[in-house]
Amino acid sequence: MSNRMKNKIVLITGAASGIGAATAKRLASEGALIIVSDVNNELGSQITTEITTQGSDAIFLALDVTNESMWQKICCHIENEFGKLDVLINNAGLLFHIPITEMLLTDWHRLMAVNLDGVFLGTKHVIPLMRKGKGGNIINVSSAAGIVGSSTAAAYCASKGGVRLFTKAASLEYAQDNIRINSIHPGPVVTPIFEKMDGWSTFVTQMGGEENVWKAKAHSTPLKRVAMPEEIANAILFLASNESSYMTGCELVIDGGFTAQ
Ligand SMILES: NC(=O)c1ccc[n+]([C@@H]2O[C@H](COP(=O)([O-])OP(=O)(O)OC[C@H]3O[C@@H](n4cnc5c(N)ncnc54)[C@H](O)[C@@H]3O)[C@@H](O)[C@H]2O)c1
Repeated sequence: MSNRMKNKIVLITGAASGIGAATAKRLASEGALIIVSDVNNELGSQITTEITTQGSDAIFLALDVTNESMWQKICCHIENEFGKLDVLINNAGLLFHIPITEMLLTDWHRLMAVNLDGVFLGTKHVIPLMRKGKGGNIINVSSAAGIVGSSTAAAYCASKGGVRLFTKAASLEYAQDNIRINSIHPGPVVTPIFEKMDGWSTFVTQMGGEENVWKAKAHSTPLKRVAMPEEIANAILFLASNESSYMTGCELVIDGGFTAQ
């Protein structure tokens, strides 16, 4: 264990699974106190216990990122309990593939609520707390699909493209408060986000099995493989630590070369 995140209080949304869970474990192993938050209380508590069993610090707090009053409550709780928040990682996300002509407005709204409203609400409510602490660091998990388009993923691409430019605008607004705000853009990563998608099993059947789906994803990248969540967590650690002290408004791409093509 090293100490790159010693004395840092870090809030991660969607930390019960995938990239969020890997990031919680990685940053905890570097000495941070992690506030694991998610709508999935059971998995969130499980990840928290895994971290504390390893001798690192973590607590679980329920948070639906689409719910503004929950953001207000969690920020109050963090202020009372810890007196500061050093890092927010806006990671919670939702993915589906629905052609535009078949997409209901309610589908569009439920995706935007998590992927885009959630990032806005989190940023809005942690900034006053970070200002009191004389600075802070926000990392928004966008996607390679926030840089280039992906067929049948218009809502997802629009939300992640929105996160990309929201990040840049916010970084300009709060640089004077010593708050750094950056986005990360993963390519395909092995996480449960895909199996949760409506129509996943039909898609898998069409592709002739899950192995073929992953092969196709791997093949789409110049490195010819998909990423493990820990590889994304390492990039988030870099942005969350002082090693990236001169970076703000930046988009960090971790996609096996996908968007370089
Ligand atoms: N897996 C990939 O290939 C990939 C690629 C690029 C970007 N991303 C992004 O990475 C982030 C993490 O995704 P993942 O792949 O680890 O998926 P995941 O499904 O494993 O994790 C997402 C987490 O978000 C939580 N969540 C969903 N709605 C929420 C809400 N309203 N409030 C709070 N939490 C909520 C889920 O319960 C889950 O624990 C997402 O923003 C996703 O868009 C993933």
